[in-house]
Amino acid sequence: MDDPIRAYLIEGSADAVQARFTTLTPSQLDPGDVVVRIHHASVNYKDALAATGRGRIIRRFPCVGGIDAVGTVESSQSPRFQPGDAVIVHSHGFGVSQHGGYATRTRVPADWVNPIPPGLSALDAITIGVAGYTAALAVDLMELNGLAPGRGRVLVNGATGGVASITIDILAQRGYEVVAVTGKPAQAPYLKALGASEVVAASDLAAATRPLEKALWAGAVDSLGGEPLAALTRTTNKDGVIASIGNAAGQELVTTVMPFILRGVRLIGVNSDNEPALREHVWRRLASDLRPRHLGRIAQVKPFDDLPQVIKDVVEGRNTGRTVIAVAPEL
Ligand SMILES: NC(=O)c1ccc[n+]([C@@H]2O[C@H](COP(=O)([O-])OP(=O)(O)OC[C@H]3O[C@@H](n4cnc5c(N)ncnc54)[C@H](OP(=O)(O)O)[C@@H]3O)[C@@H](O)[C@H]2O)c1
Repeated sequence: MDDPIRAYLIEGSADAVQARFTTLTPSQLDPGDVVVRIHHASVNYKDALAATGRGRIIRRFPCVGGIDAVGTVESSQSPRFQPGDAVIVHSHGFGVSQHGGYATRTRVPADWVNPIPPGLSALDAITIGVAGYTAALAVDLMELNGLAPGRGRVLVNGATGGVASITIDILAQRGYEVVAVTGKPAQAPYLKALGASEVVAASDLAAATRPLEKALWAGAVDSLGGEPLAALTRTTNKDGVIASIGNAAGQELVTTVMPFILRGVRLIGVNSDNEPALREHVWRRLASDLRPRHLGRIAQVKPFDDLPQVIKDVVEGRNTGRTVIAVAPEL
């Protein structure tokens, strides 16, 4: 418990961010119920924005980055966890307003922690991470809103990204016909291997500018926001469901109400900051009926020292799938 903590710390202010490796003492851990020795973390789009200051993500400086991590419980004041439990930590303030996963140890509120469900290894769980959790939550919510295999094609954009890769995998294993839309068409073999039945270059999607265009999609999972999301509202089928997950292309949405009032298009929001009961439900499904089949293909595992380069790659759009960081894999 007294050994020093190796950490990747984001310092500065919202206007000028620097990030560097450093050593923290246990007294610098944040308050919380559960101390976790971290083995692996991952690099999400949000992590890359946070560590480079490209987005105003960090709400407390200095802050260890990393919005998800897996490890072993060292001590717990919550009856939900015992020392030795294998757990995943993600969402809420993790890596945003409290120290996150790029550190060999963390202390967090119990509500940010889930046991890794039976059937998933720790590496599976961090490959899924907050990205796959959000993908599964989106599928869960879309099906509650009427999406079902056989109703038509489902579009997934930003397709090579972390959320999108796992979404494609989950939808394909449930029998959906998935159309992957990507800015990296050379990655078509990867996307087909995940289960996409068709891969479309984002530049080849016909411009959709009228309030209602030809209806093409029973559903869509949107990581991009901005114009790509607006185009989806115009091209989704009657009673189709769009899950809005991200804003990699922009945060504005300029459209009309016509898709909603004339086609009954359902635009649903997906947010991964959930209460324990919903987190348990989604993680149980991720280990059972929504279990991705291609995690080995989606994951790339890199040493802790490579983190700054991985962050650069994500910010510059060179990443594919999920990058897992081996923070202290020997623990
Ligand atoms: N709602 C939530 O709770 C929640 C949870 C997790 C993530 N998110 C959000 O979901 C989005 C995706 O996250 P992620 O971790 O999967 O990110 P990621 O791995 O970096 O993937 C994003 C993908 O979007 C595409 N892309 C990137 N920049 C773009 C741009 N400027 N214009 C158009 N396409 C672009 C790229 O795919 P292609 O090259 O294949 O097109 C990229 O691989 C982010 O906005 C993130 O903040 C939200």
